[in-house]
Amino acid sequence: MLADAYIIRNTTMASSTLRSLGVLTSGGDAPGMNAAIRAVVRGAIFHGLKVTGIKRGYQGLVDDEMESMDSHSVSNIIQLGGTILKTARCEAFVTPEGRRKAYENLCARGIDALVVIGGDGTFAGAREFGSEFDFPVAGIPGTIDNDICGTDYTIGYDTALNTIVEAVDKIRDTASAHNRLFFIEVMGRNAGFLTLHGGIATGAEAIMVPELTNDYEQLEAFLENAHKQHKTSSIVLVAEGDQVGGALKIAEQAQKDHPEYDVRVTILGHIQRGGSPTADDRINAGRLGVSAVEALLAGKRDIMVGLMNGRIVHHPFSHSKKDRRPLDPQLLELIKILSI
Ligand code: F6P
Repeated sequence: MLADAYIIRNTTMASSTLRSLGVLTSGGDAPGMNAAIRAVVRGAIFHGLKVTGIKRGYQGLVDDEMESMDSHSVSNIIQLGGTILKTARCEAFVTPEGRRKAYENLCARGIDALVVIGGDGTFAGAREFGSEFDFPVAGIPGTIDNDICGTDYTIGYDTALNTIVEAVDKIRDTASAHNRLFFIEVMGRNAGFLTLHGGIATGAEAIMVPELTNDYEQLEAFLENAHKQHKTSSIVLVAEGDQVGGALKIAEQAQKDHPEYDVRVTILGHIQRGGSPTADDRINAGRLGVSAVEALLAGKRDIMVGLMNGRIVHHPFSHSKKDRRPLDPQLLELIKILSI
């Protein structure tokens, strides 16, 4: 990683006109966002740039809620969940008037470029703003959902996954003690990555994800078979955005269709969004943060800085929005094989 960073430094710094950059976090928070802010701030200072922290995502751009940051502003935050810059989903930034106000505020403060940390909604705003005002923006993927095209990884995903594993392991103890069937709801409005990977990691007997249309039929088949085989307890992970409904709805239906089971439901909720980031989330946040700064110094703009096969990649924002990132069919199959 350092080798990558040094190559960019040596070849691009001299020609850069960038002097001052702003950084913000937007959309749902994710553990590791603070580590990313720290990397952006320290990466920028390392390269002789001024840095401004923008509060509450795009809302702070529109409302001119910003403050200058130095190396000490990001001391002792690498281990913290949440985001010291706060975050928001901003209606005003969706309007041309709101974006113009944001642009004027940036110009008044002499900010030349932006680093935005967030998910696909954040990148959509960045793309619109960047092209409207010809303003350089680099995006760092930060969402527990891990659902962004063009990157294998988003900041916060690994921590959320480990939170799920810890919670489901505990539930399995009581499920097994009482011979119960548990439906556990996991976050993921549009994407089943946390559910699929969480399911494999916890040995879940079945999963239900928004990407599949026939998952209730698959669940039925599993329940019938499990009963015949005298399986005493089972865990089903349900993504909150499953097409059949959330865990409560599915559990109600399953209990009606299979009165032989003693059914319970747990909704993990926002516990998945908090907590101290894992080592992976901290390290990757550091890599992505410094790389975003160096990409802007190299004159790149309107790009997302991601990770593919362990390597840093830079893709245009349009690429990150192109398609829905698909679930790996081999992993979907693996769940079935491992739950017989
Ligand atoms: O984008 C991450 C996410 O955690 C989704 O999985 C979830 O649906 C959503 O945020 C909930 O966000 P909020 O409660 O902040 O609206």
